[in-house]
Parts: sequence; C-alpha cells; structure tokens
Amino acid sequence: MGSSEHAAAKRRIEALVPELVRHLRLYHVEDRPDISDAEYDALYRELQALEARYPDLRRPDSPTLRVGAPPTDGFASVPHRSPMLSLENVMNAEGLAAFDERVRRMLGREKQVIEYVAEPKLDGAGAELVYVDGALTAGLTRGDGRVGEDVTANLRQVHSIPLTLETGGAAPPPVASVRGEVVLPLTAFRKLNRLRVERGDEPFANPRNAAAGSLRQLHEIDRRRLASLEFRAYAVAEGLPDGLRTQWEVLETLRRWGFLVSPESVECPDLAAVVALHERLLAARETLPVEIDGTVAKVNRLGLQDELGELSRSPRWAIAYKFPPQQAETVVEGIEAQVGRTGALTPVAKLRPVQVGGVTVSNASLHNQDEIERKDVRVRDTVVVQRAGDVIPQIVRVLLEKRRGRPRRYRLPAHCPVCNTATVRLEGEVVTRCANIDCPAQLKNNLRHLAGRGALDIDGLGEKLIDQLVELGRLKRISDVFTLDAAGLGELEQLERMGEKSAANLEAALERSRKTTLPRFLIALGIRHVGETVAELLAAHFGDLDPLMAADIEALEAIDGIGPTIAESVSRFFADKRNRGEVVRLRKLGVRWEPLEPAAPGGGPLDGKSFVLTGTLPNLKRVEAKKRIERAGGKVVSSVSKKTAYLVAGSDPGSKLAKAQELEVEVLDEDGLLKLLS
Ligand code: IVH
Repeated sequence: MGSSEHAAAKRRIEALVPELVRHLRLYHVEDRPDISDAEYDALYRELQALEARYPDLRRPDSPTLRVGAPPTDGFASVPHRSPMLSLENVMNAEGLAAFDERVRRMLGREKQVIEYVAEPKLDGAGAELVYVDGALTAGLTRGDGRVGEDVTANLRQVHSIPLTLETGGAAPPPVASVRGEVVLPLTAFRKLNRLRVERGDEPFANPRNAAAGSLRQLHEIDRRRLASLEFRAYAVAEGLPDGLRTQWEVLETLRRWGFLVSPESVECPDLAAVVALHERLLAARETLPVEIDGTVAKVNRLGLQDELGELSRSPRWAIAYKFPPQQAETVVEGIEAQVGRTGALTPVAKLRPVQVGGVTVSNASLHNQDEIERKDVRVRDTVVVQRAGDVIPQIVRVLLEKRRGRPRRYRLPAHCPVCNTATVRLEGEVVTRCANIDCPAQLKNNLRHLAGRGALDIDGLGEKLIDQLVELGRLKRISDVFTLDAAGLGELEQLERMGEKSAANLEAALERSRKTTLPRFLIALGIRHVGETVAELLAAHFGDLDPLMAADIEALEAIDGIGPTIAESVSRFFADKRNRGEVVRLRKLGVRWEPLEPAAPGGGPLDGKSFVLTGTLPNLKRVEAKKRIERAGGKVVSSVSKKTAYLVAGSDPGSKLAKAQELEVEVLDEDGLLKLLS
C-alpha cells in the first residue's frame, strides 16, 4: 500500500463524508435534495470502496455505518444520564388554565404573563441519543425513564438522526444528550400494515406500536422499515451551549445541529397562543404526516424552568394538553365483504355510528378472515373502535362481557358479492379473492395489466382511456379491448380527448398486439403468481395453450420450477368457466401466437429432464448449450432442486454446485453433456 495512495484516500474520504452527510440531511430532514439518487449512490459507493480498501480510514460519522446489524441476542440495559421524565396531562382548556395559574403562583408572578413554547405531542416512542465529541455513540429507548435499552444499531439507520452534530466549525459539547420521539409517519405506517396483512401477520394497532416495535426489532432487519422511522428532537438534557435562554432557542439549536424538529412548534407570547395551536393541530390532525395526541406547553424561559423544578416523574414547567380519545364503544350491526381492485375480499364491519376523536365512524376494516377469527368479531357484538391515524378505523377488541346470546361466526362469502363468481383462498395466503378476471370490481386493474409492457403491450391504451371506457360501459370484460377497432375509427374518435391521429394509432397498436407470444398472453391474463418466469416455464413445457388448460394440478406441480401455490392458482384460473370463455373470445378476436415445441414428451433422448447450467463451459456458449438441451427434449431452469436431473458445471460454478451435491443431483462437465446429447 503506497503511502501517497493512503494519503489521497484519506483526503477523499474527508471530503466525501461531510458531502454525503449534507446530502442525507437535505434529503431526509429538509426534503430538498440537490443531487439525484443515482449521483448520491455513486458517491456512497465510492466511499464504501475506499473504506473497504483502507479500513483504518473509516470515520465514526461515516454514513456507511448506518447499515450495521443490530445485536442478535437482546438489547443491553443502559441507565439514562439523567431520568427521562414524563408529562402531566390535562384534557381540556380549564385544565390548561389551571396549569398556567399554578406556574404563575409558584413563581410569584400572579399578575404577569408567562411565555410558552407549544409543540405537538408526538405519539411515538421516546428515545435518548448520546453524542461524544459530536459523534453519535449511543441511542437508548426511554424504557422506564431511568434505564433504557441500547438500540444504537437500529437508531443509526434512522435517516433523520445526524451521526455527527453540525456545529458549524465550533467545538461540539464533550457530551450531548438529545431527547426526542421516534415516530413512524402515517404513510409508512399504512404501507407497513398493508404488507403485514398480506403476509398474514397481525397489523400494528397504531403508529406508536409500529415505531416502538421497529426500534426494538432484533431479527430480520428490514432496513427500509427503520429508514422510514423519523426522530423528532425536542430537548437537550446535557451539553446545551452556554448562553441559551429559552426553549425556543433550544429547538433552534437542535435544528442547527441537524435534527428534525416538529415544524408545527410555535413560540407563544401567552397561554392563548398555546390554545390556538392546540386548536389548529386538532383541526389538522387528519392531515399531519405523523400521529400526535395533543399539544405540549413548555415554559419558554429556561431560568423559570429551573425555578419551577420537577417532581419525581414530571417537570412542573410542562404539561400535555391531550386531544379527545380516539377510541369509543359501539355495536357491530353487520359485516360486509368489499371487493378491492385486486379482487381481494375485505370484510368491513358496519357499525352503529359513533364519534371517535371528533369524527363519526360507521365502518371498520376487519382485514381478512383470520383477523375476524383472531378477534372473534360477530354481528351484534359490542366493540371498542379506534382511529389509529388511519383513514379506516379498526376494531380493537370485542367486549365479550357484553355479548348477548350466541351470535354466529362470520365467514367471508363463497361467491363474489359483485359478480357472483366463486371466491378462492389459495393455500398459505390470508387473502380471499374473486377469481373472475372480468369482475367489474377489478376490471380496470386487469385491463391496465393486460395492456401493459410485459403483457400485450398495447400502445395508447393507457390508464385514463381504460378508466373512461370502463365507465362508459364500453369495456365490460377484458376481451372487449379487441372489439374496440372492429367498428372502425369512428367510435374511437367519439371519445373525449381522442383525435383522429390517436384513434388511428390505437387501431394500429391493437393490430400489432394481437400477434403475441404464449408467455405474454399468459401474463396478460393476470393469473395470480404467473409473472414472466412462470409464464415462460409453462409455455416451454406445454408448447401451446390447450394442453396447459387441460393440465391438472398434479401435472402442473410436476414441472420443475412450479410449486403448489402456482399450480393451484393456474388450475383454479382455468377451471373457471368465465375465464375459459374469455380465452376463447380473445382468440376469436384475433389474439394469436406461434405455438412452441412442447417439452418433447417421450420425444428426444432427454425427454423432459431438467438441467441447470452454471459457470463457464470451455467451448459451448450458454445459449448454445440451452438450445441443444431443449432440442433433445430437455429443459433448462435456473435453480437446482430435487427435480433437477443434471447440473452442468463449467469453471467458477458458484453455489449451485454445492446445492447440487447436497441434493445428490448428478453433475456433468461439458464432455459429459455432449455425450448425453449424442
Ligand atoms: S418533553 C421533561 N415534548 O410524551 C419533558 N415530550 O407523556 C418530557 N412526548 O415521555 C418530555 N411529544 O416521550 C416532550 N413535544 C414533546 C413530546 C413529548 C411527545 C412524549 C415523551 C414523554 C411522553 C410523556
């Protein structure tokens, strides 16, 4: 290692780290990035490469440290540097006025006006960050207020947490303790819950649980989940620069150091201004990006805070003015199944209308059949509903002690409530779906899919046009697409925004799309679990559509690369009369493809045997090898399984070789393959 190279790397790292830190801050905190993601990635990778080459040059504030693994065997308990206090609550304006009166009395300032800072009371998980000489060294949960858990590795991945304090060249405090709330923004919360429900996991009841759960997750770190957490700072427990006089200046200092501070916070000349913010926040509650459950009023002057002091659990200089509760009791009057755009049936509880947090609630999602059973919700039950910052309220629990008689359990219907086709719940899935591709509830979605790039690729049949045509009743099933040009251009031109030229273009696009390939056609049908790879496997195996449609589950499952879920999905799809009807009609309307040679049943010498190729062969190119195997009746798949007949290994074979040996799959070299082929 040349020392001049080392020095150059050091200089480059010293430039890159602050540069990347600045971009991270612009992106995650200030929401105004000034370079593209790709440019950022390039800089990031350059830094990664330099650090890999010169590990001694890695700086403690390097953004690459954000992606460390958390400990895997529980979190260490660590005492806080000073207790993390809690807040007293008041529920109404009188309570708040009483607090203000007490403050003035205790300060002997009955006749004076006290200034406050009003901040949103964030509904998340409290956390403490410790910076030594400006570098983040520890991150703790609040725990019981005295002892927290060391979640440093997880907190490092939260992008709005600066890894170093930005002190603008000034010396950072030797030790700084910054406190704030870790919250999960509502959009991320909804997305996370959607994913959880799809995966069959119980959704989080609210963003607070989701944030706390994410912070403490040990295993299976989903990095993106941590990255979408937000840390909003509100206090400096240690290391406050000299000369600060107010809480407002504390918030400004935190902002300068690089923290995200709730932008809704205001400096209030008097108590009325606190009440005003509270009302504004309450009115805006539904539209704020994070969940809040009230307003925190803090005496602005730090000197007065000191004079007031604190009780054992909470400071005397601050109070939480809470919003009305988000939970209420009501009765389930019915349960209905709604069909979504993907055909998923969602059970929705119809509730006796009730006020929850200032909004009337009359529906609550029950997500899926498993969820209904887990909560055991039945019609006429009395339930607790809550609005977890979600558009759709949820049922928290059934008040079993109020259940009268023995109401029947609810089951999702066996037929789609929109089109009456049989519903299906595939093995291992939590979602029950309508299996009809022309179900009006899913038609727009399916049409978009059919016209999409990977499917029939119909240029000019975009989302807007599809919506318009479905709403006009012109498209009632997917095959109707290929009747659009039958009546000539006249009809198309009648459509809004469709001129002569685009009508002609669409007509030409339809004609082009009629001539397709079997895999594309299969993709276009929108069969669940049939994407490009599966479509190609099926096409290669059966060669044409009719033998595929005639295949039963066993025949499908016997194909290498097709597991039970896919086999079930495909066979159910073609078992449905409407779906078969659609296939027939699409072909009648001119959709066609060249049949392929089916995988030579009983034909060539390799007769349906499956091969996996790995590494570089000395003479044969991979495509050539594949062609020759297929010509002999074999097929080539990408991964080794029990069904694989041979692994053909060249140089640098990688993990497939080990897998093949483990499964006792025969391994061939090029010569071996050629022998087999002859
Ligand atoms: S100040 C010594 N400010 O609410 C002051 N806390 O119910 C104590 N919280 O433990 C904290 N938003 O986790 C403060 N703007 C805010 C807050 C806030 C949420 C949390 C915090 C605290 C809990 C008390």
